[in-house]
Amino acid sequence: MKKIAVIYYSRSGNTEAMARLVTEGARAGSDIEVDLEKIEDFPAEKALDYDGLIIGSPTYYGVMAYQIKKFFDDSVNFHGQLSGKVGGAFSSAANIGGGNETTIMGILEAMLIHGMVVQGTPTGDHYGVVSIGSPDKRVEKQCRDLGKRVAALVKKIA
Ligand SMILES: Cc1cc2nc3c(=O)[nH]c(=O)nc-3n(C[C@H](O)[C@H](O)[C@H](O)COP(=O)(O)O)c2cc1C
Repeated sequence: MKKIAVIYYSRSGNTEAMARLVTEGARAGSDIEVDLEKIEDFPAEKALDYDGLIIGSPTYYGVMAYQIKKFFDDSVNFHGQLSGKVGGAFSSAANIGGGNETTIMGILEAMLIHGMVVQGTPTGDHYGVVSIGSPDKRVEKQCRDLGKRVAALVKKIA
């Protein structure tokens, strides 16, 4: 069975709420196993067990939280072995224009350096889902759609 991990860091719960919604979306109607994982409990090597990784971070000074960056830095130990896996990203921030898209792009850039496959979307949040504070109705849908999109791509190519 194909497997996706939704991995997140969250201090005050907003990114965690997004991660739960992304997980719901990935599970909906797919026969893929989807694990919801806190980054603190997810040693980088565990990424090798999955066909898709969807990673969420709060926006901290316009970039990912150090816990997520550490995951990528630790992944140098198996550099090259994530190639061809599917990736996706999401971020919660306090402000519109508060650096949320740069945070998402930082995560996607690291995924691309790994050789991972990243799909944008022509509608909604193009690069990955952004929430200002806790998820509202719009974000709920965007999160579920991200999960569904990654699951569909995993089924297609992994
Ligand atoms: C250290 C720190 C840095 C932050 N930097 C930014 C920032 O650059 N832009 C922004 O919009 N929000 C910033 N925030 C706010 C958080 O991104 C926001 O509260 C987010 O929803 C927290 O996610 P969480 O509930 O998952 O922990 C920062 C918060 C902290 C604690």
